[in-house]
Amino acid sequence: MNIVVLVSGRGSNLRAICDAIDAGTCDAVILGVVSDRSAAAALEFAKGRGIPTRVVSLRKGDDRDSWNESLAAEVADLGPDLIVLAGFMRVLGAPLLERFPGRIINVHPALLPSFPGHSAPQEALDRGVRISGCTVHIVDAGVDTGPILAQAAVPVLADDTADSLHRRIQIQEHRLLPQVIHQIAIGAITLDPLVVRTPVADSIRTLTVPDA
Ligand code: GRF
Repeated sequence: MNIVVLVSGRGSNLRAICDAIDAGTCDAVILGVVSDRSAAAALEFAKGRGIPTRVVSLRKGDDRDSWNESLAAEVADLGPDLIVLAGFMRVLGAPLLERFPGRIINVHPALLPSFPGHSAPQEALDRGVRISGCTVHIVDAGVDTGPILAQAAVPVLADDTADSLHRRIQIQEHRLLPQVIHQIAIGAITLDPLVVRTPVADSIRTLTVPDA
């Protein structure tokens, strides 16, 4: 399965996907990595592996509609079967969503539907939850609202900071995201465009609770 990975930052999830591909546990080919930030460390990593990279920047004052059109055009030009948001910090607009209905997935550092948005680990701490985790879900027009494909839980410890909790969650992200990509590649998870309209797709949801 041919994928394009969208990134904005460090790219540890991109690395995890590459590691799983190398290990033969993720049956995917990365056609390209696209970022909204030219300074994203993930881009350097991708270049180091010989993966084509593209940047579609959105600066203050830029027209958002044109940015959405450019992003969709760049991604579509690479011709992916699946688009993976791995730390891409922008909400996608209609041009990309309509070109790839139900074929865009995202990894989020919380057990959705709790704590969508940018500060999930901090919000989990603020609310005093005892268990958090990560979610891989199909992307729709909302903020982290699409149908859930898979989740992994981690304990929240008494002395956790947002950073320490996020690091523990990321260990599970790095396992779960390549696993879901592989399951889609081999047809164990079917991405039906209609699923995007369903709040929760029970048939494709899995819950993995690792040891504390
Ligand atoms: C991850 O925690 C992911 O859940 C969130 O952004 C973070 C990206 O991390 N959407 P990285 O760039 O893959 O290291």
